[in-house]
Amino acid sequence: MKTYLVTGAAGFIGANYVKYILAKYSDVKVVILDALTYAGNLGTIAKDIDNERCFFIKGDICNRDVVDGLFAEYRFDYVVNFAAESHVDRSIENPQLFLITNILGTQNLLDCARRAWVMGKDEQGYPTWRRGVRYHQVSTDEVYGSLGAEGYFTETTPLCPHSPYSASKTSADMFVMAYRDTYKMPVTITRCSNNYGPYHFPEKLIPLIIKNILEGKRLPVYGDGSNVRDWLYVEDHCKAIDLVVREGKEGEVYNVGGHNEKTNLEIVKLTIATIHRLMADNSEYRKILKKKVKDANGEISIDWINEDLITFVKDRLGHDQRYAIDPTKITNALGWRPETKFEVGIVKTIEWYLENQAWVEEVTSGDYQGYYEKMYGK
Ligand code: NAD
Ligand code: DAU
Repeated sequence: MKTYLVTGAAGFIGANYVKYILAKYSDVKVVILDALTYAGNLGTIAKDIDNERCFFIKGDICNRDVVDGLFAEYRFDYVVNFAAESHVDRSIENPQLFLITNILGTQNLLDCARRAWVMGKDEQGYPTWRRGVRYHQVSTDEVYGSLGAEGYFTETTPLCPHSPYSASKTSADMFVMAYRDTYKMPVTITRCSNNYGPYHFPEKLIPLIIKNILEGKRLPVYGDGSNVRDWLYVEDHCKAIDLVVREGKEGEVYNVGGHNEKTNLEIVKLTIATIHRLMADNSEYRKILKKKVKDANGEISIDWINEDLITFVKDRLGHDQRYAIDPTKITNALGWRPETKFEVGIVKTIEWYLENQAWVEEVTSGDYQGYYEKMYGK
């Protein structure tokens, strides 16, 4: 039996990860700690919380008493830290919140784990650790900065973050490595490229574009749309984290990426074309459209779902031009490779959103204020 503390699992990737490990292993106990910020939604994981194998605690990773209390109550083998402020645009508006959650929160988790897991000291004064424990930090390719037209991020690429978000994630990584080097803490880090899939909060590019199309709104593309991201289906990321937590070498960093580079404009055009095709094939989907234009026969028209919806808007400040991951290390060491082809993953994702409109309504009904609404109104 392995007991996990998984933070931030009411959010996008953490929720997918918890669902994945609960389905894969019968001998796990998972404790979710999540502050339920605007990006966290209990409904996303409600069906997984059975208070036998999966427990939920609402709380802040920065709160020492809360985290110490959990370590006192459960004998954690693994800590997997997803909790973060994750949206680059919000970090440009309010950098300090990113510093608090992403840096201080990570350091608090490291310290609470250290207090619980250290058994004694070796002859040189280094702490000795309970056998088999592991702190895993879910990090991002954004810590490496931005690429030109050529090349890839490897694990030895110098850290060079640009946005307040990526600066905070880089600092968190540095703390993880500082605990490894100073206390010999058993840690691992994964640095992944852009994820897409179910439960992705609709302020990020792909779910925002889906949401706006269904609502008949404009599709904002920053700058000229030439920025490149390396898109990975979320379940493939979860598989990579699972492998690294269980089999990755202590103290190591692993890059995770999809070998799937696309410009933002390509992503938006592909999403428009896929929604148009799915709507053409399925009249039930057409009923979901909030903008109901009727054709000459009184049927719901989808002619207006086309590239004219694209609107080029002011660029993101300090917008990184290109991210692309070289995942050779994790492939060679652990046999991981991206499994979901983008053409398949994007259809699965769009169908999930079409069939889970209630979830979209729910997550956007609380503290959420989307950037689209801020910039262009409702
Ligand atoms: P998300 O914004 O969807 O979810 C973040 C979760 O963390 C939410 O449930 C939120 O309530 C919770 N949270 C925020 N502050 C907290 C706090 N102080 N204490 C406890 N919980 C708190 O984020 P995501 O997209 O799922 O990203 C998860 C992690 O993966 C982040 O660390 C992010 O940096 C990293 N990452 C994301 C991507 C991506 O493409 N989304 C890619 C690489 C790495
Ligand atoms: O690379 C990994 C990172 O991917 C993660 O660490 C972050 O947590 C995650 O949010 C994501 O960051 P990005 O900034 O790349 O994702 P976002 O979906 O916000 O934007 C993707 C690209 O699309 C980016 O170049 C900005 C652009 N964009 C975004 C939005 C929301 C637009 O052109 N229009 C938009 O409305």
